[in-house]
Amino acid sequence: MTITEQVKHAIEQPFGKVLADKMALTSYTNGSWSEPIVQPLQPLSLSPGAHVFHYASACFEGLKAHRFDDGSIHIFRLDAHLARLQQSAQLLCLPLPDESVCRAMIVDLVRQCREWVPQHPGTLYIRPTLIGTEPSIGSAATPSKDALFYVLVSPVGSYFKGGIKPLRLSIETTHWRTSPEFGLAKAGGNYAAALKMIQDAKNNLHVDQVLFAPGNDVQETGAANFMLLNDRQLITKPLDTTFLHGVTRDSILTIARELGYEVREEAIPLDRLLAWVPNGEAVLTGTAAVLASVGTLIHKGEEIKVGNGEMGPNAARLRSALVNIQNGTAPDHNGWLTAI
Ligand code: PLP
Ligand code: COI
Repeated sequence: MTITEQVKHAIEQPFGKVLADKMALTSYTNGSWSEPIVQPLQPLSLSPGAHVFHYASACFEGLKAHRFDDGSIHIFRLDAHLARLQQSAQLLCLPLPDESVCRAMIVDLVRQCREWVPQHPGTLYIRPTLIGTEPSIGSAATPSKDALFYVLVSPVGSYFKGGIKPLRLSIETTHWRTSPEFGLAKAGGNYAAALKMIQDAKNNLHVDQVLFAPGNDVQETGAANFMLLNDRQLITKPLDTTFLHGVTRDSILTIARELGYEVREEAIPLDRLLAWVPNGEAVLTGTAAVLASVGTLIHKGEEIKVGNGEMGPNAARLRSALVNIQNGTAPDHNGWLTAI
């Protein structure tokens, strides 16, 4: 298959299944990083005793490169994703190359994989990954001395199986997605901690995702942030350590302010959510999810429709405003795109 054929095939596969044929990589040993390289995509060779396999010293980022109609390629909010990667690395006590090195590795790889960037609405999902590689199975309470930082890219279509069909979410009020101090790390362990709850909800309630609201504080879903909308307002939880500080969240808040919405970063107690949804809208935001409408909530076995269960006008408006900046059909006033 040609690369163009592989890309066409990839965007029809589940999100992230197909990787491009190159990866960028650098390793940390004896206190320094090796010269970064771009190499053919290939398996890693690691000790089975590597820190990451036992103590989950792993974090990552998820960002996207977009192809404009003129063929040029642009990475969305590279700086914000690099800053969050640094925060995750610090929380996991992992070394990370200088920001300029991480940036150059990402840009270089996307440049070398430009043929893998699909036409809009497809995008190239970029996955920088940092793992602790020290072979030391006793190091439960010691950071990994060695590390590997690598970048993968994957041509993707829609994250959710139903495309932009409104989502069905169950509300989890008892359990946390992760620990209250660690939510702001984009760490593999956070996804591991939530997986069984999400899987059980999928199996038992046929939902797309779980909305975590421990102690009735509405936080986020397993892979995206959460917001309430109506014609006038956007409401979302203020930043704290309990949940991931989404770059899409920040972008949508900025766009909403520019469009004249009153943006309120304030707690969403469950009661408020339940009172809002009969006449309002609810959405998820994330790099993979973009902006996706919630159509149905399941709470204590009861199905609750959000509005009429379809994507509302405010969700559609904010989604298009974001996507138009990303694909170059609206101006990038905020300097969010990096041309490569
Ligand atoms: N929350 C979680 C748990 C996520 O996995 C994601 C996706 O990355 C987000 C929120 C949204 O973050 P971002 O908009 O930076 O992709
Ligand atoms: C993202 O939006 O980048 C995510 O993290 C979702 C995911 C595939 C884990």
